[in-house]
Amino acid sequence: MSDPRHTTDHDSHAARGASKMKPTKTNLALAGLALLVLGSLTAYYATQSGGRTAPDMSEEAVARRIQKVGMLELGEAKRGPRTGEEVYKAQCTTCHDAGLLGAPKFGDAAAWAPRIATGYAALLNASLKGKGNMTAQGGGAFADFEVGRAVAYMANAAGAKFEEPAAPEAAAGAEAPAATASEAK
Ligand code: HEC
Repeated sequence: MSDPRHTTDHDSHAARGASKMKPTKTNLALAGLALLVLGSLTAYYATQSGGRTAPDMSEEAVARRIQKVGMLELGEAKRGPRTGEEVYKAQCTTCHDAGLLGAPKFGDAAAWAPRIATGYAALLNASLKGKGNMTAQGGGAFADFEVGRAVAYMANAAGAKFEEPAAPEAAAGAEAPAATASEAK
């Protein structure tokens, strides 16, 4: 057991001694040392918990998810409103390129002529809602005007002279295509 009086004496001696010496330098040095130790401890524990525990895995997973979403958004932004050719190549070509399931072939004027004769509106309507073996939008998820562009693109390749519809002003955003698609249904 240490003598409390001694400790007190010693402390006051030390305090007096410290104030007699250059206290600022000593204190600064001590503070610096403390910060250094704290810093390396923090770094050590951060590395330790980061290196081997589940939270880091989930952090990584979250990061990956965020990256995925970011990439998806980038894709959407890049995509913008698609041209008829882009929609055709992304979706319609599956059946219309080879005439699958009885689809009128791309560029086949004879197959398209009677359909073109029904008019652009009828063709668009069939494309949006589906017809025969073709599901709505051919299974795609485009804005209506994008499907319209694909209709014009395909029909024009088979002799029609439809104009590809312009993008509505409201459809400039990333979510707009979906909103437009549901509006018209
Ligand atoms: C799953 C295969 C498939 C896909 C994908 C597909 N179609 Fe079709 N499409 C068909 C078939 C089959 C028909 C013939 C339907 C009928 O007349 O019974 C057809 C017919 C059409 C017609 C003529 C409709 C009419 O009234 O005569 C248009 C226009 C058309 N498709 C546009 C599109 C567009 C635009 C896309 C892409 C967004 C697309 N199709 C994707 C299978 C497909």
